Amino acid sequence: MENRIYIFDTTLRDGEQTPKVSLNINDKLSIAKQLEKLNVDVIEAGFPAASNGDFEAVKAVANEIKSPHIVALARALKSDIQTAWNAIDDAQKPRIHVFIATSDLHMKYKLKMKPQEVLKRAVDMVRYAKSLCPSVEFSPEDATRTRPEFLYKVLEAAIDAGADIVNIPDTVGYSTPSQYGAFIKGIKENVFNIDKAIISVHCHDDLGMAVANSLAAVENGARQVECAMNGLGERAGNAALEEIVMAIKTRADLFNCHTGIVTEELTRTSKLVSHITGMQVQNNKAVVGANAFAHESGIHQHGVLNCRETYEIMTPESVGLKKSSIVLGKHSGRHAFVRHLEELGYKNLDKDKVNEIFEEFKNLADKKKDVSDEDIESLVKNEIFQVPEVFNLKYYQVSTGNTTVSTSTVRLEYEGKSVSEASCGDGPVDATFKAIEKAAGIKVNLNDYFIKSVGYGKDALGEATVKVEKDDKIFSAKGLSTDIVEASAKAFVNAMNKMYYEVSPEKAAAY
Ligand code: KIV
Ligand code: ZN
Repeated sequence: MENRIYIFDTTLRDGEQTPKVSLNINDKLSIAKQLEKLNVDVIEAGFPAASNGDFEAVKAVANEIKSPHIVALARALKSDIQTAWNAIDDAQKPRIHVFIATSDLHMKYKLKMKPQEVLKRAVDMVRYAKSLCPSVEFSPEDATRTRPEFLYKVLEAAIDAGADIVNIPDTVGYSTPSQYGAFIKGIKENVFNIDKAIISVHCHDDLGMAVANSLAAVENGARQVECAMNGLGERAGNAALEEIVMAIKTRADLFNCHTGIVTEELTRTSKLVSHITGMQVQNNKAVVGANAFAHESGIHQHGVLNCRETYEIMTPESVGLKKSSIVLGKHSGRHAFVRHLEELGYKNLDKDKVNEIFEEFKNLADKKKDVSDEDIESLVKNEIFQVPEVFNLKYYQVSTGNTTVSTSTVRLEYEGKSVSEASCGDGPVDATFKAIEKAAGIKVNLNDYFIKSVGYGKDALGEATVKVEKDDKIFSAKGLSTDIVEASAKAFVNAMNKMYYEVSPEKAAAY
């Protein structure tokens, strides 16, 4: 049996269904470019019928990204399928992904359709998709709670109608590894034309078993795994790409198969996805968490020093973690700085951007003795993902204490005006956000806010993440400073700039 496992990344589709995550065209393009470097086989770019914005984003990814298959999701409806095709028809390797639910529960209560109607719709829509697109994937949603005999019939008919890939979603994360493995085996044994299609798996993590279930499926003949970076996805998320890939690589002795993933790009991809989505990765997360290669106890440290394999089953280098020998500080020159950026993987940055980043670096080096790679990566991302600054924070001042009401005064510049406003609030950050809203003349809902330190030490940079909501859309942005109120204020203003940019990019670019 072919022992190559295809990695189907759904960060841009199911991953975008993570609560409080919303990706615009630029976000999707930036992530897609990195996924191409990671060498995923398939990128599910979105669900074009869901909104105009998603249609445009999928189209942009389809036009720009060349080597992976670009997938557009569609319900089993002619209009969805046509829209999906319109979004990806210029892709080098387009694929339409058609889905319809097949469990009794979903057919009765959600679709309100009889099984025979669902079967016919699946066949008709796969055939229709195939008439447009050379590659078609079919998913019977909630497959793991579908009566097996009915599922076999639907899969057989979908393959006959032209499905090249049949995907078996554990939509609600209900399966266990032995059960899911047996389920895949049952499909292999009972769907008579299964050898004409690739079996794909798509597991959700509601019971924390998405990765284990996917791997059990691989052991039983699945050859495509759908997964998302950092395990993003609907509810508890999808199987984490980095865990699937490193399990297959590290335990090649067991799985006897391989992926085409450039594993050295995993850390960079994880950080980029975390930065853009504003979804933090927990420190103890497997493979890409900050502690994944940290040894705390003396016994472990001693063991690793003597022989790394005592406590390390994979190397930090294999997932792209590098220890830099250069420490940059206030005396570092532009030349050394640029060389270091290149070592960190930021090679073809625009000259103006490099100048801005160098300026920020110098400011930071004045406040901090040693500037770490983490600091520099934050500065770079902060600059790369900056949208045009319509609102510019010129000044802020807070007065706060545990026995006084916090007040904040801010000055914003925008549209040629300079506006100062003051506000009280529940703490200095709340007061500052309110003063910014007053000065900008815009009211938004604060959907999420958190702050974390970048690196270690009392003088560490604070990185604030702010998500604001306006008209049901979420805009996520970050702000950096060694002062946490300033970091928060910058993040808030950046989120408003992002909002402005998305509503009116031409107008924003004119500033
Ligand atoms: O979880 C699921 O069932 C899905 C399908 C659309 C494949 O995301
Ligand atoms: Zn899903």
